[in-house]
Amino acid sequence: MNEYPSVEVNLTSLVTPVGAHWEQNDRLREEFPVYWNTYGNGYWVLTRAEEIREASQNPAVFSNHSIVATDPNPAYRFLPSFVDPPQHMKYRKPLNRWFSPPAVAALVPQLRECAATTMQEFAADGHTDYVNSFGDHFPVRVFLTSMGLPLEHAAFLVSCVRRMSGARSGSPDHVARMMGAWADIAAFWTVLLADRHANPLDPDIDFVTHMTEATIDGHPFADDEIIDTLVTLTLGSLDTLKGQFGWCIYHFATHPEDRQRIIDDPNLIPNAVEEIMRAYPIVGMARKLTQDIEFHGCPMKKDDMLFLNLPSATRDPREFPDADKVIIDRSPNRHMAFGASEHRCVGSHLARAEMIIALEEWHRAIPHYRLGVDEPLMELGSQIALVSLPLVWDV
Ligand code: HEM
Repeated sequence: MNEYPSVEVNLTSLVTPVGAHWEQNDRLREEFPVYWNTYGNGYWVLTRAEEIREASQNPAVFSNHSIVATDPNPAYRFLPSFVDPPQHMKYRKPLNRWFSPPAVAALVPQLRECAATTMQEFAADGHTDYVNSFGDHFPVRVFLTSMGLPLEHAAFLVSCVRRMSGARSGSPDHVARMMGAWADIAAFWTVLLADRHANPLDPDIDFVTHMTEATIDGHPFADDEIIDTLVTLTLGSLDTLKGQFGWCIYHFATHPEDRQRIIDDPNLIPNAVEEIMRAYPIVGMARKLTQDIEFHGCPMKKDDMLFLNLPSATRDPREFPDADKVIIDRSPNRHMAFGASEHRCVGSHLARAEMIIALEEWHRAIPHYRLGVDEPLMELGSQIALVSLPLVWDV
């Protein structure tokens, strides 16, 4: 009898009341550290933090050639996501500098301005659907600012995010809508890149010009490599933040005692952001097997897909006491919501700054608010996110 038997579980995309999937993850984590999910063509799932860390740190066996569990042979390429070490760091280098802690710190005044502008659009109304107002607009404005681009592109990118985030169910209509948005994003960057080749801007301010000057193994990046990097940054940064923002405000809308604590002491907000990322994580990642291997008793085969269930790992009681409780001043809090490999999220510093500033500015302007529905619905697909988050407040 293997210590870690493989089992068959059929998980599909679901719209559920908030909380249903935490219970499902808790149950599966305790029963099966590793299991075979029969959804789609089937893939392995790791549920516990230790095993996920072990696989994340063994790219020779668990490769990044695909990071979507249901898509072992993608027709697209995410960069630097799809490149394994040692080549990976070469693709990542121009991004590391751009999204480093000092670079993000320099953006903070502009981020505050983006938050204030976004909130002005609905603060006087006394109500909003948070994920589809602030959640759409604020990350887009921040993203454009961080890339050195004018906000005139915001409406276009918001429309792309809406088409993508409404597409998690996996139905053919939704997939077609998502692929349309994806193609529009690629076309947007293709036009911009051609323009920067012809009319370069300051490479310290304009990210696209910066990429045209970056080199890899002594050569400039090819245009298709730059486009794939730009598309990955766009997809990786907008929908993820929209999802995570929703959970931040959902928590404070439903836990008035925690809300009062951050209103009284905004210095608690950075810790609270970490805890919300740990307790309400939104994304997992997949890897592709490069060889046959027995992993914790499971007979994995070359080309099998393996899903690293990060949302389950961050709630693993083996790593976190009272893992199912949200403790906004939890310390230490070494969660893996941004990953646990060399591919750890390159935008983590920007994402953290955005969430901290969003919570600070929101609670400064609208400290007292409540849910506008009894219980919002969440979607369990490529991301775990609220479908909408109606809020009301007195004006
Ligand atoms: C709350 C928001 C975000 C979450 C939860 C998140 C989560 C993640 C995770 C889990 C990974 C994969 C790590 C791994 O495979 O080990 C990742 C990678 C990545 N993220 Fe994020 N991310 C967020 C925001 C952002 C932002 C704002 C950007 C861009 C500015 C970004 C760009 C990327 C890129 C380019 C990668 C691939 C890195 C590589 O392969 O080296 N993400 N992110």
